[in-house]
Amino acid sequence: MALVTGAARRLGRHIARALARAGADVAIHYHSAEDGAAQTQRELQLLGVRAEIFQADLANTGEITDLFVRLHESFGGLDILINSAALFNRVPVLEITPAEWDRVLNLNLRAAFFCSQEAVRSMKRRGAGSIINIADIAAFQPWPAYAHHSISKAGLVMLTRVLARALAPEIRVNAIAPGPVLPPDDLSEAQRAELAELTALNRLGAPEDVTSAVLFLIGAGYVTGETLVVDGGKLLRG
Ligand SMILES: NC(=O)c1ccc[n+]([C@@H]2O[C@H](COP(=O)([O-])OP(=O)(O)OC[C@H]3O[C@@H](n4cnc5c(N)ncnc54)[C@H](OP(=O)(O)O)[C@@H]3O)[C@@H](O)[C@H]2O)c1
Repeated sequence: MALVTGAARRLGRHIARALARAGADVAIHYHSAEDGAAQTQRELQLLGVRAEIFQADLANTGEITDLFVRLHESFGGLDILINSAALFNRVPVLEITPAEWDRVLNLNLRAAFFCSQEAVRSMKRRGAGSIINIADIAAFQPWPAYAHHSISKAGLVMLTRVLARALAPEIRVNAIAPGPVLPPDDLSEAQRAELAELTALNRLGAPEDVTSAVLFLIGAGYVTGETLVVDGGKLLRG
C-alpha cells in the first residue's frame, strides 16, 4: 500500500489515482482540503482499491508521528511513500521572515525527512520499500522570487541521495523534479503560453507525465538515489 501526502488535489491526487489504477491501496493524506480528500477517496474506491483518509499538518513533527500510528493501525504498514505535499510561496528574498522560512522548509524538506523516517520503520520490517520525493526543477535552477522554495527542493534532492545510501539495499529512494506541469490555477492563458515557450518541447506538461515517472521509479528495481527531471527540456533552455 502507498501513502501519498497532499493527495486531496492537483498532482497529489493524480499520483494517488495512478497508484490505485496500478492496483495499490492508498492512504490519502490531506492538510486542509477535507472535501478534496473525500473526492480523491471516492475516485479511488471506484477503481476497486482500499482508500483511507488521514489529516495531518506535516509541518508539525508530532502530527507526523500520530499520522503514522493511525496509518499502521489501519493498514498495518506501508510499501510506498510519496512525499508530494509542499508550499510554493512567491516572496522576495528581503521579505522572507524566519516564520516564512520555517513554514516552507518545515513542509518541503523537514516533513519529507521525518515522514521517510517513520515509513522506513515499517518498510524495514517488511524487508522492502520505495520512497519518491516530489522535488522541482527549482532544485537545479536558482529562482530568486522563490528562494526558500528553491533551497528546500535542492535539499530534497540531497535528502534523496543520502537516504538512498543509508537505507539500501531494502529501500530505494528516488525523486522526480517536475517542470511546469500544473501551473497555479490563476495563471492566464497568455502566462501559460509564455511558460510553455520556455520548454524545449514547447508545451506544458500533463499530470500523466509525472505519474508515469512515479510508476517507472516504483518498478525500477536497480535505480536508487536518482532524481528524474520531467520538465519538457526546460532546464536545457536555462
Ligand atoms: N504543479 C507543478 O507544476 C509542479 C512543478 C514542480 C514541482 N511540483 C511539486 O509537486 C508537488 C505537488 O504540486 P502541486 O502543484 O499539486 O501542489 P499544490 O497544489 O501546491 O498542493 C500542495 C499540497 O500541500 C499540502 N499542504 C500544504 N500545507 C501543508 C501542511 N502544513 N501539512 C501538510 N500538507 C500541506 C496541501 O494540502 P491541503 O490542500 O489538504 O491543504 C496540498 O495538497 C509539490 O511538491 C510541488 O512542489 C509541482
